[in-house]
Amino acid sequence: MSDKRPVGFFDSGIGGTCILAAFRALCPKERTIYHADSEHCPYGNRPADEVIRLSEANTQELLRQGCKMVVVACNTATAAAIDWLRAHHPDVPFIGLEPAVKPAALKSKTGVVAVLATAGTFNGRLYNETKAKFAKDVTVIAAVADEFVVEVERLKGFPVTELAGAELARLERIVRVKIEPLVAAKADHIVLGCTHFPHLKPLIERIAGPSVVILDPSEAVARQARRVLAARGLLA
Ligand code: DGL
Repeated sequence: MSDKRPVGFFDSGIGGTCILAAFRALCPKERTIYHADSEHCPYGNRPADEVIRLSEANTQELLRQGCKMVVVACNTATAAAIDWLRAHHPDVPFIGLEPAVKPAALKSKTGVVAVLATAGTFNGRLYNETKAKFAKDVTVIAAVADEFVVEVERLKGFPVTELAGAELARLERIVRVKIEPLVAAKADHIVLGCTHFPHLKPLIERIAGPSVVILDPSEAVARQARRVLAARGLLA
């Protein structure tokens, strides 16, 4: 049996396209629909009930277009809304995102890891439970990086590796201000806990230097989405 219905993805903006790209590379036979709620971007500082309302509207739109699964390609929306979405759409498989604190904490040699995310993600149950369970013995620096969201939306998908001149210098300054203190505090892992941030990964990597591992969850999320499709007999 082959299920030809599309897999739906949503985010507040273009951030979640990094998850979409990883999924398409892994599952080239699947049809996909990406819904960017650019009108309401950013989600990071909105109250949880508002993010639930927006996430429900995004989900309704993807279901209206016949999606067989919804990937919440947004850490902030996952933190606020995934429980609600699962409870209100019991027949729909949802894939959510949470910052990869566990692998970072388990692999850290310095005992210091940093997480870059939005305030909404840091306030969420998932992040705090995972941190309490797996990162008790390490210092976790929580760095809110809303300015990165704004910059990625500004790029409109233009690859950061192709920026040059004044525009590159400006963005580099913004990234440096956030990343250098984390390196100075001896963080040896930086978790990209917002789907906008992998779009800045080459710059973050260069500024953090070779001794810091940058954790991008995109491929792991794509693999999880494929596992769930396979387990439910929904693969194309
Ligand atoms: N890309 C989102 C995330 O993963 C949301 C960023 C925002 O809208 O503030 O958290």
